Amino acid sequence: MSSILITGGAGYIGSHTVRILREKSVQVVVLDSLVTGHRKAVPEEVPFYQGDISDVGLVRNIVETHGVEAVIHFAALSLVGESMSKPDLYFYENTAKTNLFVSNLLQLGVKKIVFSSTAAVYGLPEIVPIPEESPTNPINPYGLSKLMIEASFRWLEKAYGLKWVALRYFNAVGASLDGSIGEAHWPETHLIPLVLKAALGQRDAIQVFGTDYNTMDGTCIRDYIHVLDLAEAHVLALEALDHQIKSGIFNVGTGEGFSVLQVINTAKKLTGIDIPVVEAARRSGDPDRLIAKVNKIEKTFGLRTRYSDLETIISSAWKWHRNNSNGYD
Ligand code: UFG
Repeated sequence: MSSILITGGAGYIGSHTVRILREKSVQVVVLDSLVTGHRKAVPEEVPFYQGDISDVGLVRNIVETHGVEAVIHFAALSLVGESMSKPDLYFYENTAKTNLFVSNLLQLGVKKIVFSSTAAVYGLPEIVPIPEESPTNPINPYGLSKLMIEASFRWLEKAYGLKWVALRYFNAVGASLDGSIGEAHWPETHLIPLVLKAALGQRDAIQVFGTDYNTMDGTCIRDYIHVLDLAEAHVLALEALDHQIKSGIFNVGTGEGFSVLQVINTAKKLTGIDIPVVEAARRSGDPDRLIAKVNKIEKTFGLRTRYSDLETIISSAWKWHRNNSNGYD
């Protein structure tokens, strides 16, 4: 028996990936500290361990018990704002612990890893759509905490033969189409959940952070990828590692951008609710435009996004938020 270990499998992107792998009859085992993840996001039948990636003995036990042959490593802290006030926490939780975890895996003979990286490694991009070979210059510790791991993988590959794929996510959004799993962060900082919470009356209004950006309507443009398409990218990356592709870095987005106002207006249309909108000051560290260049992942893995149109994104998220207004609680 062999399995894929999913760290952070009880989190937002991890739980959708667990589901897709099971639909493809791939054996998975989940390790999640439940610091930000939710036990209910993982089906009862899936082997589940509550614990930390830095627990060397626990990881050894999981690898040996389940015959782990590859890892998808989602477990991390991911609040950009929090990383600004607690950079040491991010370097410890995301960078130091991942280094220890991967070193342990290598000693156990596990040499294949798909890693959650982020568009935040690019900082304020010079060229948009952003190609993978763009300069990396993160403007927050969160982005740097991930970039350091990408860089470390090159050396671990040379020294020990690590096979790795780092996926640089753009904006992960949406929920499972049946509305049974979705985004449940506390505190919530992301645009689409906050828009829908305003639609549900759980918040007074959605604040638009900045209306004077150099974009067609003055609001920031982002590349929104449906979490199911993002999950699929991990599955394809895993398969590619089995076929001896070259290790490396891949953007995961759609190559298309939407403004904050376009998102809000689509949400108004799809919910039928006149969501209250308040113009607010710019949020610090927001680039005006972040759009992925996606030809590398399309060509190498054959990724074709299927759910990342704004309508499917917002209607799936709406179903999740309407049915689960308190998340998993
Ligand atoms: N926004 C608002 N109002 C809100 C929340 C967000 O106007 O209440 C705006 C933001 O200013 C931004 C856009 O909506 O222009 C999207 O913001 P999100 O917070 O949803 O997402 P980000 O683009 O800031 O963050 C995403 C990922 C991070 C990653 C970052 C890379 O969620 O993990 O991209 O820059 F680090």
